[in-house]
Amino acid sequence: MLTRRAVQVASIRRLSTSSTLLNQKPPPSSPKEKKNYTKDDIKYGPLSQAQQAYLDRVIRVDQAGELGANYIYKGQYLILANKYPHLKPVLKHMWEQEIHHHNTFNNLQTQRRVRPSILTPLWKLGALGMGMGTALISKEAAMACTVAVETVIGGHYNQQLRVLTNQYGVKLEDKVTGEAIDKSDVSKTLQASDELQGLKNQISQFRDDELEHLDTAIEHDAKKAVPYILLTEGIKLICRGAIWTAERV
Ligand SMILES: [Fe+2]
Ligand SMILES: [Fe+2]
Repeated sequence: MLTRRAVQVASIRRLSTSSTLLNQKPPPSSPKEKKNYTKDDIKYGPLSQAQQAYLDRVIRVDQAGELGANYIYKGQYLILANKYPHLKPVLKHMWEQEIHHHNTFNNLQTQRRVRPSILTPLWKLGALGMGMGTALISKEAAMACTVAVETVIGGHYNQQLRVLTNQYGVKLEDKVTGEAIDKSDVSKTLQASDELQGLKNQISQFRDDELEHLDTAIEHDAKKAVPYILLTEGIKLICRGAIWTAERV
């Protein structure tokens, strides 16, 4: 038989349980379900005028740069290919890659209707002269020219990739609902439209090719060129000047 004390304790426990239940907060509503977006689900907001203008500049200067590289390697090939048969496939491989880079930017220029640099004839002549001139000095001087050119172009492409990654944020919307998409809900690659991502992929592939050319030139005695520092620093200066100019005119 229950004692009075036991009945009191049991009733206090019942009371305390029911008050705990009353004080309990309702469970938080479940977090909004994350959608696994693909490119097809996203509507990309327009680029600003400044972003459009920079994109045009990128295409203009890169087209001029690749045209220059195409003509530099052409000049080297014309002078060195028959004189040094072991260099022929090396030079041809690099030249063919430059032709591909050049054609790619020619196509982008047509697609986006970007006007070419008005100094195109000068870039052709200057680049051919630089390629042939260094090759006439020596095969090592030609390779030193490659080191200088590819160092500048590699850095230039990296700089463009930084801008295209950090300064090309646009509004993202769900194509179906029209709701704004929080950028933290989508990966970096999905934050850029196909056009922008395609250009970035192209530039990073070309940057890798240029750095491979640089390594090839070092392997083929670029540093034995005399005078190496004067030659490479002089050519770097010319390349930087050409880039600055081709971006603007
Ligand atoms: Fe190139
Ligand atoms: Fe190159």
